[in-house]
Amino acid sequence: MAGVQIFKKNSELRDWRLKAVGSVGFVPTMGALHAGHAALIERSVAENDLTVVSVFVNPMQFGPAEDLGRYPRPWEKDEALCRLKGAATLYWPEPSDIYPPFFSSQVEVLGVGDHWCGRSRPGHFIGVSTVVLKLLMRVKPNRLYLGQKDAQQAAIITKMVADLDLGTEVVVCPTVRELDGLALSSRNQYLTAKEREIAPGLHRALRLCAKGVQTGLIKDSKAIGQLFQEHLSSSSPWRLDYFGVADPVTMQPVELIDKPVRLMAAAFLGTTRLIDNEAANPRI
Ligand code: PAF
Repeated sequence: MAGVQIFKKNSELRDWRLKAVGSVGFVPTMGALHAGHAALIERSVAENDLTVVSVFVNPMQFGPAEDLGRYPRPWEKDEALCRLKGAATLYWPEPSDIYPPFFSSQVEVLGVGDHWCGRSRPGHFIGVSTVVLKLLMRVKPNRLYLGQKDAQQAAIITKMVADLDLGTEVVVCPTVRELDGLALSSRNQYLTAKEREIAPGLHRALRLCAKGVQTGLIKDSKAIGQLFQEHLSSSSPWRLDYFGVADPVTMQPVELIDKPVRLMAAAFLGTTRLIDNEAANPRI
């Protein structure tokens, strides 16, 4: 098994980066790593000479009523996975290493974050963009690996990287799913056994709607929205946060579906909020 170097301080990471030879791939995470993260690390290891994984539960992207306190932190398991998958470096900073006293800057990518999770979780994407920019400035990767499950996050970071000339290639990797279709997420472990049975219904409803778009029979977003609600409520007790049809790059709502779109959804099962999305390409 290859060795992984663990750094807790920016100064240690900086010294390593100055000496690193070859291409660097970067996988930013909040820990509680699962097979979705493992796939990102594997891809980075395959495409780069060195892979850096960061584990940082970023307080800036959690709202006051959200799960920052109970977010899972299985440090030893995370370290073992990074080791197993061949990451060269694990950056595991303390909050004060990222946000020193009197830290007062923030990054906002306008437009792309206006809808969907951006609307449901005010300030969330400012926290994401700020921390990812800081991490990118520190790791200076050639390639950055993100999961498609967080489609809006990936679109925002892609735009930020382009707008700010960061020179990093953003690689968005397919969502990894359980056999029953549930998208892997660190938050799935909050689900009760009963909720876990129901949870794949979110992806099932998205897929049925994507099929409706693909047949070319439904072109109106409102009609797709109704269909989604019908499919989801057939497997209650969901509480819908949002469903929408988005342009995959700008993340703006699309009314008439006459080009490839992304169907976006978030819904609660009990206190657990699940998000998912699906590509839908209309037959023209
Ligand atoms: O997707 C996540 O885990 C986080 O939003 C990220 C990109 C690591 C930033 O904290």
